[in-house]
Amino acid sequence: MKFDILTLFPTMFAGPFSESIIKRAVDNGLIEIALHNIRDYAVDKHKTTDDSPYGGGAGMVMKAEPLSACIEAVKADGRASKVILTTPQGRPLNHAMAKQLAEEDRLIIICGRYEGVDDRVKTLFVDYEISLGDFVLTGGELVAMAIVDSVSRFIPGVLGSAESVGSDSFSDGLLEYPHYTRPPEFRGLQVPPVLMSGNHAEIALWRRQQALTKTCMVRPDLLAKVMLTKEDEKFLKELDPK
Ligand SMILES: C[S@@+](CC[C@H](N)C(=O)[O-])C[C@H]1O[C@@H](n2cnc3c(N)ncnc32)[C@H](O)[C@@H]1O
Repeated sequence: MKFDILTLFPTMFAGPFSESIIKRAVDNGLIEIALHNIRDYAVDKHKTTDDSPYGGGAGMVMKAEPLSACIEAVKADGRASKVILTTPQGRPLNHAMAKQLAEEDRLIIICGRYEGVDDRVKTLFVDYEISLGDFVLTGGELVAMAIVDSVSRFIPGVLGSAESVGSDSFSDGLLEYPHYTRPPEFRGLQVPPVLMSGNHAEIALWRRQQALTKTCMVRPDLLAKVMLTKEDEKFLKELDPK
């Protein structure tokens, strides 16, 4: 999988992509990340990439010409790709979307700045508009990092055996159960005894019930989409008799 990131601030990516799992994935050739400075595609002598909006109003808009030239240069090798625009007006990034995007061969991610990009770029090039959530960031770079990170986790080999996506939050539609590690007691707080019992069936039941409880309390909207067993339903009824 190749990620091509189109940005006005390529140096922002140095830290997040040069550590830990993403660095290892790049080093092992499982993913490729290319950063493209949109300013390199500006044609005037001042390297202008933004201009004032038609119709007036505050802020600047990213010009269509440099961005289009950058996208076309990246696509020139003919490799199959999907173009993502980062925007608060897009569909919120979630587990299912990251998993689906991991099926692609190449993702071209546009990082917006200012008031966003000239809308004609969307019409001409964009396949997906993706939001990180219902808030406004100063630019799309953090969103691109989140896309690369969340999508890469679904690429075979990127996670080691100790880092499986299997029980992560959302993998079965629920938020994940709590984790503990040594020592068994910390500042008066004990690890739940069931986790040290060695009884795998009881541990699995406890984890399922913890995941159901957490999801019911924090994200009840998720429960509507989960395949619940009869035991789950009984447990939830006792938890919240309404
Ligand atoms: C200041 S924002 C522009 C917001 C835009 N005027 C609006 O109200 O929709 C600048 C850029 O940051 C990125 N951005 C900001 N918040 C985002 C979010 N929640 N999800 C995805 N991208 C976001 C987008 O690339 C956007 O073009």
